[in-house]
Amino acid sequence: MDRALGTLALFVLVFSLPWPVMADTPSPAVDVTVHADQPGPKIDRDLYGQFAEHLGRGIYEGVWVGEGSSIPNTRGFRNDVLAALKALGVPVVRWPGGCFADIYHWRDGIGPRSSRPVTINATWGGVEESNAFGTHEFLDFAELIGARAYINGNVGTGTPQEMADWIEYITSPTRSSLAELRRKNGRDRPWRLPFFAVGNETWGCGGGMRAEHYADVYRNYATFIRGPSDNRPSRVASGANSGDVHWTETLMAQAAGSMDAITLHHYTLPTGRWDHKGPGRGFGEADWIATLQGTLQMDGLIAKHAAVMDTYDPGKRVGLFVDEWGTWYDATPGTNTAFLEQPNTLRDAVAAALNLGIFHAHADRVRMANIAQMVNVLQAMILTDKDKMVLTPTYYVFEMYRPFQDATFLPADVATPAYELASASVPMVQASAARDASGGITLALVNLDPHRSANVKVKIAGALARAVSGRVLTAAAMDAENTFGAPEAVKPAALQGARVDHGGVAVVLPAKAVAVLRIQ
Ligand code: AHR
Repeated sequence: MDRALGTLALFVLVFSLPWPVMADTPSPAVDVTVHADQPGPKIDRDLYGQFAEHLGRGIYEGVWVGEGSSIPNTRGFRNDVLAALKALGVPVVRWPGGCFADIYHWRDGIGPRSSRPVTINATWGGVEESNAFGTHEFLDFAELIGARAYINGNVGTGTPQEMADWIEYITSPTRSSLAELRRKNGRDRPWRLPFFAVGNETWGCGGGMRAEHYADVYRNYATFIRGPSDNRPSRVASGANSGDVHWTETLMAQAAGSMDAITLHHYTLPTGRWDHKGPGRGFGEADWIATLQGTLQMDGLIAKHAAVMDTYDPGKRVGLFVDEWGTWYDATPGTNTAFLEQPNTLRDAVAAALNLGIFHAHADRVRMANIAQMVNVLQAMILTDKDKMVLTPTYYVFEMYRPFQDATFLPADVATPAYELASASVPMVQASAARDASGGITLALVNLDPHRSANVKVKIAGALARAVSGRVLTAAAMDAENTFGAPEAVKPAALQGARVDHGGVAVVLPAKAVAVLRIQ
């Protein structure tokens, strides 16, 4: 049995009946064994990273409204969004793209805003880009929410010189012309710049390159990622699309020595088709299970890429950054389809929880993950409409899972029935566990079944439970969501009935729910 799989390792079909027969079926039994006696790697807090691209209303309106706005703001950043992100403990934010990164020229976004050029966001709808949100604004924003900065450089239409200048502008403590320009533009001290990526999706929107060609391009650029010895960014190579292991293999073979991490992008589309992905709300159960089944593929994908990386880097020095992940649906009707706006429902919360559980199980190699995207785009944490803001079900999963940040992974075996619909089948329950610095155990339980609750019994190998409490996120409908009219329809509540049982824990996990238990 592969413990690395953690949450899905022991998938036992206790019984499976077609859904109509199960309407009156009692809650099935699920047995979870948490191995507190076999601690694994640290779950890097950067697995809870965010991604903010110049795309639709992600930055403009979502984060930046400008100092003159009637929407309450701090130096142009909307206060409600700042407060919500601060409360989430966002560890790292990736910017400015995405595909936008490879058409972005950083010099357009510095200096007095009134003199910045208006450019075209040719990637996302051909709309005007005011460049009001540039380097200073991004790094100021990251500092305001307490996150570390991850900048994605431009390879597609940029040069190594432009990239090297950008890094010097941000990080240099000297009196160089670029450092002095930064001071003239209002920032005396250098910023911290922990991560810098060489292009985005360089196999596609970032330049349409072959892996063999990009490997050389990467080595060229990476040579010029410098900086003061105490502020030198980790060098991140643009990695594979979903299952393209050849890409990872080529980059690892040709350039592993000059990289600190390589990326992986994988999105979940209910139908698996880019021309018709499926609706974000008003979907049926077939779309529900297809979305969750698609999400669970992340486990196998990471395992494949990690196995290739192990061949070239058995010591696991190079991190795998899943720096774009999440659900992707048909755009909300009536919106600009290039803006990638979509509803965020209970289904997204369950999908987010599953992905996070998978990242935990691969924490030995996966050191960063960035959900796409932070505000108003794809599987967003936050939605805004003028002066209104709502927190999505996905936001609440990130908030409930905060104790996992920097905790120690504990393997968990799960004996669970399947949840099935027609030919689709997934484990009914996923579990993920970790121990934090205070010695307490956090256990996340996800019920994928929209109909049946689960009677979960938790054994803890190597520890005795003395107290347990928990919170749960669920709702009556699969597509329940928070709207501007009803912003608190889906939010965490106390999980009733969790109790200590023979040194372990017993709990009834509601249908279609994400629960997080705190076990002392
Ligand atoms: O997140 C939206 C887009 O998806 C990103 O810009 C790109 O990198 C990916 O294809």
